[in-house]
Amino acid sequence: MGIVRGRFITFEGIDGAGKTTQIDALERLIRSKGIEVVRTREPGGTPAGEKIRAMLLSDDMTVRTETLLFFAARAEHVETLIRPALERGAWVLSDRFTDATYAYQTGGKGMDGRDVEALEAWTLGGFAPDRTVLFDISPETAARRRAVRAGEGDRFERESTAFFTRVRNAYLDRAARDPKRFLTVDASDTPEHIEARIREEFLTWL
Ligand code: TYD
Repeated sequence: MGIVRGRFITFEGIDGAGKTTQIDALERLIRSKGIEVVRTREPGGTPAGEKIRAMLLSDDMTVRTETLLFFAARAEHVETLIRPALERGAWVLSDRFTDATYAYQTGGKGMDGRDVEALEAWTLGGFAPDRTVLFDISPETAARRRAVRAGEGDRFERESTAFFTRVRNAYLDRAARDPKRFLTVDASDTPEHIEARIREEFLTWL
């Protein structure tokens, strides 16, 4: 009998939606079943990807350059980390993936969605998450949550409420088009309720 391929689960939502706490909880739950978990993030996840991340979060650049860099980091991520992990049976939990490019660069910044589709096809050749948890929250609530964190935030977190409204709507639109892959949770709910909702869903993924 061959090794059963792991599952690739991604987590999305605007900045300040509270993804981290929930990814932590799901990671513990999956490990408790004796399954290997690889926890990662985008942009980043690999040595080259983390360098690209540093550039993306701090340097001003055009949306085209930005989009190419997100995909460059993603190509490295999928080839060197995600696919090998899935093939040895690990579950991969990624804080953001390609949906974020559609939401931020297309929804937020007006990059043509067809160009993103072309880059996605060229870079990933149909590779996609098995499941995606979308943390949906109003930009106002998310901004209040970000405000209690230390520091002034990165280049993306300093965007306007109007920007985050477009990003949120782009995420909701993607979720509506692919309801089998997406689980949308109300991120303004209590952490306990959200955790219970994800746990319940996780049992169906096993
Ligand atoms: P993230 O790691 O979630 O930020 P933080 O560590 O501050 O919580 O993501 C960094 C930023 O990059 C975030 O604002 C979203 C943005 N982003 C895009 O614009 N496009 C993408 O394709 C990805 C993956 C992230």
